[in-house]
Amino acid sequence: MRHFLDIDAIDASELKNILKMAHDMKNARIGMPKGAHDNGAPLAGHILAMIFEKSSTRTRVSFDVGMRQLGGSAVLLETSTSQLGRGETIADTARVLSRMVDAIMLRANSHKSLVELARWASVPVINGLTDKSHPCQIMADLMTVEEAGLNLKDARLAWVGDGNNVLTSFIEASAVFGFSLVAACPIGYQPDNKIVNKAIAKGAKIEVLTDAALAVTGADCVVTDTWVSMGDTNVSERMQALSPYQVDEELMAKANNGAIFMHCLPAHRNEEVTDAVIDGASSKVFDEAENRIHAQKAVLRWCLEK
Ligand code: CP
Ligand code: NVA
Repeated sequence: MRHFLDIDAIDASELKNILKMAHDMKNARIGMPKGAHDNGAPLAGHILAMIFEKSSTRTRVSFDVGMRQLGGSAVLLETSTSQLGRGETIADTARVLSRMVDAIMLRANSHKSLVELARWASVPVINGLTDKSHPCQIMADLMTVEEAGLNLKDARLAWVGDGNNVLTSFIEASAVFGFSLVAACPIGYQPDNKIVNKAIAKGAKIEVLTDAALAVTGADCVVTDTWVSMGDTNVSERMQALSPYQVDEELMAKANNGAIFMHCLPAHRNEEVTDAVIDGASSKVFDEAENRIHAQKAVLRWCLEK
């Protein structure tokens, strides 16, 4: 069973193939109408269930449209309007949906729910973001870095801000794709040491600092994300601790010439990033958002094609 649960749960060679397939599929669509089927509709007849325990724009639209472009379709379940919201267990839901659909994508409050779903499902399960990780986002981000002309093996990425779910997937990816990763996060908001050390043990080049200027110096790509992720409750403490970590033009100027800026979106403009940076020449945020669809189509094909 090919579940796509986390970057560090999948073979490096498989991940590299998925990334290559994503680029190839994007290139093959040049000149095609957005809604057109990919040649041969490789997932014709396949149906994806998408379960959302929390909000989404990009993940929801990119999985739904991606399935349609591949010749398949998607069914949406939201906690509030499905029996999950009335206490039906993940294990029962997994077994019911496995009788009806070909794959399940879950955006979960707790990573434990994702693991439980994969344990009971007899169809592939895809992580559409949990409190722990966001691997689909990182596949799209790596595509974006490569499109900017950077070689992942030699690139240096700087993460500035909260040590959150998106950073965890970057950390796991650095062990696979070879880029060096320097994260600047305030004390109390740094990534889990266990996750960092596991990646380092696999050969990743990772540093965790508190100084944003130091992290960004020499970087080819600067990445940030919201200071308050879905499910975080300590909003005012976070805003206070993270406010020195805003990515502005002065900080971007410390990065290498031609360095790119990325953000998974949604952005909280003029909090974690200024308008001047996110709307500036170095920003790749809309390419990054588009790449969600291409990367996930490759993930879906990897999960579903035998
Ligand atoms: N980046 C991302 O996952 O966006 P959504 O929350 O809109 O899906
Ligand atoms: N870290 C953010 C990412 C949103 C796509 C969150 O979990 O809310």
